[in-house]
Amino acid sequence: HVKDIQTAVDWLLQSQKTVVFTGAGMSTESNIPDFRSRSGWWKQIDPRTVATTEALTENYQLFHAFYTARIQALQDVLPHEGYHVLARWEKRGLIDLIGTQNVDGLHRKAGSDAVEELHGSIHMMKCHSCGKKASTAHFIDGHVCEACGGKLRPNVVLFGEMLPQRAWQRTLSAIEKAELVLVIGTSLDVHPANQLPMMTDGRVVAINKEAHAGYTFDLTIEGKAGELLARMDEVMQS
Ligand code: NAD
Ligand code: APR
Repeated sequence: HVKDIQTAVDWLLQSQKTVVFTGAGMSTESNIPDFRSRSGWWKQIDPRTVATTEALTENYQLFHAFYTARIQALQDVLPHEGYHVLARWEKRGLIDLIGTQNVDGLHRKAGSDAVEELHGSIHMMKCHSCGKKASTAHFIDGHVCEACGGKLRPNVVLFGEMLPQRAWQRTLSAIEKAELVLVIGTSLDVHPANQLPMMTDGRVVAINKEAHAGYTFDLTIEGKAGELLARMDEVMQS
């Protein structure tokens, strides 16, 4: 990896506009399972039974149990070193925006400011009918919306739902102008977020545990996000 890491660092230092695009693989080193790896969520549970609007309306009990488990699994999770590296790079003006598919909030927890959550946030609850915000405790305790009696849900994008317009637009326009896009810890399996990384005329570098079928990048570094980002940062300091 030594040569590839040096190349990625050189491109990062040269780039006037850099966007980072992350997925669940960015959080596995913080002990949050991803979705499609061997130990991923969708290896144990069929996503259509929990992560769809049908699941919410037809089988609220299972929907509620799944998201309660995910919220509780996040309780005292801390961002790993890779997250802190990205936050430091933002402070040094090396990256302009992070577009993430993750709903765990770890980029902001590590100190990154310019973050767009393309699939929403699991830390925010709302009523599925009227959209009124609700507390996480209210959701976990199985209460209904105080205003209209509707079902409560986390403010995440379920399959079949549209992505938040502002997050989509800001990430898309940043990527279109980017000279470098770092794609970290995502299978690029889910529309339409997976279309974003290729919407640039700049270079695309993929950092991922598994190679992506059907994509060609300017550089692919296979390995763990946290470790590789820390090594890039070391090379930059030396
Ligand atoms: P898809 O049917 O093309 O599935 C793509 C991949 O996601 C497949 O590999 C499959 O394993 C997995 N998948 C399929 N259904 C899933 C589900 N309900 N939950 C989790 N994983 C699932 O789905 P798509 O075309 O990528 O997305 C369809 C709609 O979902 C789009 O309208 C999109 O806006 C929305 N969406 C939802 C999410 C989410 O986090 N739930 C993420 C991106 C897009
Ligand atoms: N370092 C680098 N890559 C990793 C690591 C790691 N430590 N751990 C896992 N990966 C890789 C996996 O090999 C896989 O290719 O990250 C990728 C994770 O892919 P998914 O599990 O599909 O997660 P993601 O791409 O974020 O899924 C997209 O699907 O279910 C929906 O809404 C959900 O936002 C999610 C979307």
